[in-house]
Amino acid sequence: MGIVARNVVLELGCGNSQLSEELYKDGITKITCIDLSAVAVENKKKQLLSKGFKDIKVLDADMLDLPFSNESFDAVIEKGTMEVLFVDSGDPWNPRPATVTKVMQMLKGVHRVLKQDGIFISISFGQPHFRRPFFDAPEFTWSLEWNTFGDGFHYFVYILKKGKRSLESEGTREKYETPSICLFQDELESEDYIFRTNIDELNC
Ligand SMILES: C[S@@+](CC[C@H](N)C(=O)[O-])C[C@H]1O[C@@H](n2cnc3c(N)ncnc32)[C@H](O)[C@@H]1O
Repeated sequence: MGIVARNVVLELGCGNSQLSEELYKDGITKITCIDLSAVAVENKKKQLLSKGFKDIKVLDADMLDLPFSNESFDAVIEKGTMEVLFVDSGDPWNPRPATVTKVMQMLKGVHRVLKQDGIFISISFGQPHFRRPFFDAPEFTWSLEWNTFGDGFHYFVYILKKGKRSLESEGTREKYETPSICLFQDELESEDYIFRTNIDELNC
């Protein structure tokens, strides 16, 4: 996925997700998860301890005000968390100024805490035509690529590589046809969709 074992990783809005556990099982052990909800944080801590994942840190923190130093993570990852900022966005083609402010605040924080060659991975149901104006804002030095998954009901894996922005490549950044999978509602809810995705095929 572009994340390797030695990397220091931040997960935004972990909630009850198994993402950090799956990364850990893949050898990525330096993981910090944050969530705004103290209840979610306590539950996640208990869940991880009960499964023996003692090294994964879980903190009560706001992704709009990240309590970390500049350039402290190799990778930042979020799954379905950015979506919460769009809940009251109004017209998706022309989101409310308050939404724009929050999304940019989040992205600026992510960009700040990423190391110079860090990578931001955003797994989302938000479509590229609604996400690109934010990811592509001129203050960011990251490149943008994404892959589309799912039949009928699509989700997107956005990959942003800090320091790799190239103006020439803009406009042609869906990487290639990705393997198609058929999703059922219970799989969407249980996260099976992401764990059935062969991330290695993303070649990032
Ligand atoms: C839709 S859930 C996704 C949870 C998890 N990433 C998953 O894939 O199941 C959104 C999560 O983001 C958290 N959240 C909402 N606003 C946040 C913020 N400003 N900072 C950090 N976490 C936030 C919520 O508490 C919730 O756990």
